[in-house]
Amino acid sequence: MLSPDFYLPDLDLYVELTTLRQRLVTEKHRKVRRLQERYPDVRIKLLHRSDYFSLLANYGFGPFSEVEVAGIHEVLISASELERRVGQLGAEISRDYKGKEPLLIGVLRGVTCFMADLMRHISLPIAIDFMAISSYDGEEGSSVSIVKDLEESLAGRDVLLIEDIVDTGMTLNTLLQGLQGRGPASLKVCALLDKRARRLVDVPIDYVGFEVPDEFVVGYGLDFRQKFRNLPFIATVQKEWLQSQTEAKQGPE
Ligand code: IMP
Ligand code: MG
Repeated sequence: MLSPDFYLPDLDLYVELTTLRQRLVTEKHRKVRRLQERYPDVRIKLLHRSDYFSLLANYGFGPFSEVEVAGIHEVLISASELERRVGQLGAEISRDYKGKEPLLIGVLRGVTCFMADLMRHISLPIAIDFMAISSYDGEEGSSVSIVKDLEESLAGRDVLLIEDIVDTGMTLNTLLQGLQGRGPASLKVCALLDKRARRLVDVPIDYVGFEVPDEFVVGYGLDFRQKFRNLPFIATVQKEWLQSQTEAKQGPE
């Protein structure tokens, strides 16, 4: 007899937790093995105490959790959803660029997690480079300036610009104009997140990971004032917390 603790319909997966005595763990391993021999189509996973703690930590709780989660409202995209989608994007890019050697350009710093994961799912020879920009919202509109430029030449290369999130599209629009002027053979865009509801400039995005609602999101590289980049998931920030931070900053200097 084995009655697993959970069934996850989205994944068609049974989960059995073993967090207690080693003797029971061994017995459960045996049961699961026999179940899989007899019913190879049934998907079941045995989670140990340490798996359980790292799962909790993924969501910001428990003894393994060292990330700062004060201010987080809710998880919008989980670590496993990110992993799955990034794998799909990598496969798609590998197909589309077959026979080529694309140059991936990451826009720092928000792109770090996405770029690191994505490039490991591209089964082609690639090169990478990074640029850093800063944007200003001034009285004459907003402008984007390059803080760190590329080291690679773009002339004649198949360039894929990698972005964390496209919001109004102003940043991407300016970047694309600048890069196009450097003579690449092709120039495409891959963005992890698309906050389409806020778009002001119509920019082409060739590969999109997820569409997100019009809310401020953090984690998996994205920050609010340099915080939260190390969260392994994408989450929304509590409105009240965001407001308190903004007021604190605007207070007397
Ligand atoms: P855009 O020029 O309005 O498209 O802004 C794009 C840039 O703003 C992104 O590359 C991010 O650095 C930042 N950004 C926009 N929305 C968010 C968000 O929800 N969380 C974190 N950063 C954001
Ligand atoms: Mg950015």
